[in-house]
Amino acid sequence: MTPDEARHVTVSFGRVFPFRKKLTTVFYQTLFELAPEARPLFPDDLTGQKDKLANTLNLVVTNLTKLDTILRAVSTLGQRHAGYGATPGHYEVVGVALITALKKVTPAGLTPAEESAWVTAYNLISDAMIKAAAQMPPESKTA
Ligand code: HEM
Repeated sequence: MTPDEARHVTVSFGRVFPFRKKLTTVFYQTLFELAPEARPLFPDDLTGQKDKLANTLNLVVTNLTKLDTILRAVSTLGQRHAGYGATPGHYEVVGVALITALKKVTPAGLTPAEESAWVTAYNLISDAMIKAAAQMPPESKTA
């Protein structure tokens, strides 16, 4: 992640931040349209989940310049996600839902450079989560 990419993510996140509640709503709508089979993995009431998503985005965006630290922390997050039933295919759909929601909800949308910086950041994090899940011993893969 280059300093320019980090700046694009931070600046566009600043634009969407006042609308983060709408962002999380559009994110889950898009996710479950694209992957209805993922709906039962989540609790019926998504209120807590939406707050967690907004907090996680905030945490990631404010630590983009310390990506090494985030990537270590997301290993354990990835291992917990194996227990939630998240598959590599789900990560791809979650990435699409995130970018779609950002483009819809961010005032003025995302510039091509901003979109590409978000894709880079999401791929770095999701790859680290997927790798960490794959390295778990098979018997510990159920939650
Ligand atoms: C970069 C990608 C992702 C990030 C940063 C992320 C982040 C989080 C966080 C912070 C939590 C709160 C619980 C915890 O810390 O363990 C959570 C819960 C959860 N995530 Fe993710 N997640 C990602 C991708 C996915 C994917 C691909 C799926 C699969 C559909 C998924 C499904 C879930 C489920 C089912 C829960 C638990 C819901 C519950 O029972 O409360 N996540 N996620």
